[in-house]
Amino acid sequence: MSAASREQWTGRRGFVLAAIGSAVGLGNMWRFSYLTAEKGGAAFVLLYLLFTALVGLPVMLAELTIGRGAQRSPIQALAHYGGSAWKPLGGVFVASGFLILSYYGVIAGWTVRYAGDALLSGFPTDPGAYFAEVSEGWDSFVYALGFMGLTVFVVSRGIRGGIERAASVMMPALFALVIGIAIYAATLDGSGGGYAYYLNVDFAKVLDWDVIVAAAGQAFFSLSLGMGAMLTFASYLSRDHDLPSESLMIAVSDFGVAFLAGFMVFPLIFALGLQGDVMGADTGTVGALFIALPKAFATMGDAGRVVGLCFFVALIVGGLTSAISLLEVVVSAAMDGFGWSRRNAALVMGVAIALLGLPASHAIEFLDAVDTLANNVFLIGGALGLSIFTGHVMRDPVAAARGGSKSAGWTSVWLPLLRYVVPIVLITVLAVSVPGAWDKLAALF
Ligand code: PHE
Repeated sequence: MSAASREQWTGRRGFVLAAIGSAVGLGNMWRFSYLTAEKGGAAFVLLYLLFTALVGLPVMLAELTIGRGAQRSPIQALAHYGGSAWKPLGGVFVASGFLILSYYGVIAGWTVRYAGDALLSGFPTDPGAYFAEVSEGWDSFVYALGFMGLTVFVVSRGIRGGIERAASVMMPALFALVIGIAIYAATLDGSGGGYAYYLNVDFAKVLDWDVIVAAAGQAFFSLSLGMGAMLTFASYLSRDHDLPSESLMIAVSDFGVAFLAGFMVFPLIFALGLQGDVMGADTGTVGALFIALPKAFATMGDAGRVVGLCFFVALIVGGLTSAISLLEVVVSAAMDGFGWSRRNAALVMGVAIALLGLPASHAIEFLDAVDTLANNVFLIGGALGLSIFTGHVMRDPVAAARGGSKSAGWTSVWLPLLRYVVPIVLITVLAVSVPGAWDKLAALF
């Protein structure tokens, strides 16, 4: 598609909502909460906040700058600024999108299943056994397929008519649901322990490599960074956007929803005495929340059914607007690279990704290992590549980032962060995260 006929967002609000839609998802609610529980509470939250501000934010601005400047999908955008030697990095981005969506759709499928249960039959009385049934096998695959169908539908309708419209209806609803549940959780007796666990930092854990690596991976996953999703969304932007302020808005909203999610999950879990089910390295797993929360909702009677329904609807909504952005990376690459129509690209890639989700839908250890590999290796590696590219290869990135920006104070911080701080931090993290992910994968076989 030529630059002149490239699709565009309707404006600032449309883009920012869609980008927040991409950032806010299962990562903020499911992944953030289970990692916080597994990695020791507030220490993890603090590290995640640090990574978001010092590393995530500069990389976010880099992605938006490259996308808007190039007006192309990731592979072509990197080639536009850096020559074809940089195409492989774009290829890694598209591959990450493929990989992440393949299991993201599976988890989103579980949330659809639980929301349906809340609506039609109530939560199961034996949530452990029930989760095993939901999460592994053909049921899991079929729900993932349904969720992917919805994602394909939205993406095939395009930027304004599909993605932007979906985000502008769903994101405000998600905010309202999350705030509502957090307020409700505060009214429960015994919720206090949850706040203490969530907010008191254990400084010994701040220095634990395992916690540091998890926080770094989570920051990129949650902000949708390191695989070209923000870059792709920014490629539908016009010149007059103020990228630094929009980056900040996206990052603050993303952290805000994750932080709020903790205010739903931890008070609920403590009020019902379920902390033993989710906390600590041996119990905290990918599935823990899908067992503990339905257990909590089931013991709360009718109120539990309503709150549980709201909770899983929030997850579906967040998951869908994020899945859309993951698919858009792959679809835009196929449109630019192979000249496919949007409709065909969405359909073919959607089916291929759903099929790739087969193993994850049948074995949760596999899903967990792929999730670790994608986040702690691919996204961190992708962000490292991007920071080096923007900081050392691209000519005058500040001018490209400036565009419609009114303030200029950020320029003196952004480039040094991107050039030196971000690469050094990410190389250090990778030195620890690659062996960790490898061990997890090797343990499967
Ligand atoms: N940020 C999304 C979430 O938190 C997941 C995602 C990752 C989306 C990478 C796009 C790219 O759920």
